[in-house]
Amino acid sequence: MRRTPASTTVALVAALALAGPSSAALAAESESESSAESASACEITGGQLIWGIKESFRAYISGTIANGTWEVSDGATYETPLFGWSDVSGVIDPETLAGSAEFTGAVHFTGHDGLLETVMANPTLAFAEDGTGTLLLDLSNLTMDDALAGDTDKAQTITQASFITLDLASAPLMLDADGTTISATAVPTAITQAGFDAFGTYETGTAFDPIDVTLTVECPEDEDEDEVDETAAATSEPTAAPATADSADMSWIGWLVGIAVLIAVIAVIVWLVLRRRAAATPAEGSDAGGDAEEPAR
Ligand code: HEM
Repeated sequence: MRRTPASTTVALVAALALAGPSSAALAAESESESSAESASACEITGGQLIWGIKESFRAYISGTIANGTWEVSDGATYETPLFGWSDVSGVIDPETLAGSAEFTGAVHFTGHDGLLETVMANPTLAFAEDGTGTLLLDLSNLTMDDALAGDTDKAQTITQASFITLDLASAPLMLDADGTTISATAVPTAITQAGFDAFGTYETGTAFDPIDVTLTVECPEDEDEDEVDETAAATSEPTAAPATADSADMSWIGWLVGIAVLIAVIAVIVWLVLRRRAAATPAEGSDAGGDAEEPAR
């Protein structure tokens, strides 16, 4: 009967001694595991943006009204009737296809005996996670309204301004089967409010020429996984090592406390038993003596 609480105490102490290091080890494991989470982006290593900008604007420039022309520089190309950019860099997420492709190169339109000076340079295709897209560019321009009003000092240069929207819902970006090329063809475009403010003439939402884009991407799945493994190993070493040492210390302390309490409990039990026996010994001795004396009577 007295052994029941004693057993319970021993079991509890043993359980505590065992539970301590287990909890610490679990916490250390969960800490090191949480650092392994990572998302890798693909690097854009090449590609091409093909865009006529706006067919009617080209016709206007090269026609008898503006009597102008255009020149390409810094890597931009022109092959009738389309402009091209192929010096590109950027990153893109292989799962959401969110990212940006930054192209280098400029198109310089001139006309009206130098009154019309428009430079469109360094287009960036920005793809958002929600599937929308924008083309940004550096724009130097004097709007026709300002030119006609004689406000030539209102010419402005804006950098990486949102210029046209990309209707990727109509012509979505596609990642090819081997995961090396992301492309979209004949993506409808329309000028933004910011584009209209800077360029003039074309009201917000006016359609510009569609774009074709092809991006060569390097999505180093194996390398990334290796890197993630290495990173996880590297980060877990400094964090897991002290945690393991702590849990080892706690384990010894727990065991020592458990053993000490166990010994104490056993000692108490033994002491109680001995005490009981000692208390019972005289009575038992007189009974036995009585039994032994009776035959002698
Ligand atoms: C002396 C100054 C200018 C004159 C007389 C002039 C005249 C004209 C005319 C007559 C048109 C109508 C063309 C058509 O519908 O076929 C036009 C269109 C246009 N102009 Fe000018 N312009 C001048 C300066 C500028 C400047 C500085 C810009 C700056 C970008 C500009 C941009 C445009 C644009 C974007 C169009 C519309 C082209 C289209 O897509 O049809 N113009 N201009």
